[in-house]
Amino acid sequence: MPGFEIFGAEERKQVNEVLETGILMRYGFDGMRNNTWKAKEFENAFAQRMGVSHCQLVSSGTAALTVALAAAGIGAGDEVIMPTFTFVASFESILALGAVPILVDIDDTLTMNPAAVEAAITPHTRCVMPVHMCGSMADLRALKAICDKHGLILLEDACQALGATYDGKALGSYGDLGCFSFDFVKTITCGEGGAVITNNEKYALHADHYQDHGHDHIGNDRGAESHPFLGYNFRISELNAAVGVAQLQKLDGILKTQKENYTILREAIQNIDGVTFRRVPEGGEENYSFLNFFLPTEEMTKRAHAALADAGVDACFYWYTNNWHYINGWGHLKNQKSLGRLPKEIRTQMQDLNKTDFSKSDAVMSRTISSLIKIGWTGKQVKERATAMRMAIASVI
Ligand SMILES: Cc1ncc(COP(=O)(O)O)c(C=O)c1O
Repeated sequence: MPGFEIFGAEERKQVNEVLETGILMRYGFDGMRNNTWKAKEFENAFAQRMGVSHCQLVSSGTAALTVALAAAGIGAGDEVIMPTFTFVASFESILALGAVPILVDIDDTLTMNPAAVEAAITPHTRCVMPVHMCGSMADLRALKAICDKHGLILLEDACQALGATYDGKALGSYGDLGCFSFDFVKTITCGEGGAVITNNEKYALHADHYQDHGHDHIGNDRGAESHPFLGYNFRISELNAAVGVAQLQKLDGILKTQKENYTILREAIQNIDGVTFRRVPEGGEENYSFLNFFLPTEEMTKRAHAALADAGVDACFYWYTNNWHYINGWGHLKNQKSLGRLPKEIRTQMQDLNKTDFSKSDAVMSRTISSLIKIGWTGKQVKERATAMRMAIASVI
């Protein structure tokens, strides 16, 4: 995703303002920082852009998920339902808190299937964590209805879908909590960084304290602050936040160019017999960071993926065999390989992922190709890519 493509003078200016003060930490040093508070500035601007009352910046998207879960009170033995197609951070954040990841099938939205979620609920379930993969969303209305019915927390992982909307609301703002990543390959980047957003006062306060060792942030003497509960260090630095301040101002331009390029590529392949596209739930609008499409069979999809590479069409992903994003590549999770002993609740409550039937997910993922949308392409390059994609895909059907 394109944040890194547009790093420029605006980002350098913001970073230089921090370097001028020499105060690289987001808290304290009030007298020396010349009223420069980049993390706070980014938080306020991001909350406003997302239409929520609170934003907590943290050091990564993985940290955001961990902090969000912790802020909602998720702990040992609590079950968190997550999809089979996501990034490893989903289960890493759950496991880090001693909670138990429960994996469920995805559907043709490329995100969790609400019926599979409902079937996975047990007395231990506390949270449902949809992951809005590759620029589009889960069926949030259906998931919210399930969460409301069973008293569960809805936590949206919107790390790959910044700027997409559902029922007119920013993704991440629909559930109880939403998480974002600003790592180097996201829609906007801080180098490394992440954010938790919420309209819930209690969760916001918990997130604020938890990501900074439990500090209550009352008063202006950091050493004298008290710790209402245990926390950790997931703080973002002022340098990273400064990059984000500049990048956020470019978000609307990024989304506009992504949509234009996406539309050209989609139109180029939509009339090929057998090509279909991921389903976007009614009321949703993608952020257009990927063009996600299906071919009729696994065999054809593999051949199309190879043909695209042979034609020099870069950044077309076949997640089915990718080690990062699909359960097929997660031998370490399936076999609970950790350096130290995992908590008892995890060892006893986790599904046997080597035996669980995820054939419904396989049926979708084995036929999915995702083509990254870059914003730096010239008009000529997009047209050439569109032609090359059409020819490569048509050649295997
Ligand atoms: C869906 C999703 N969730 C979480 C993360 C974790 O973000 P980070 O790399 O900032 O830790 C990523 C990163 O790729 C992601 O794609």
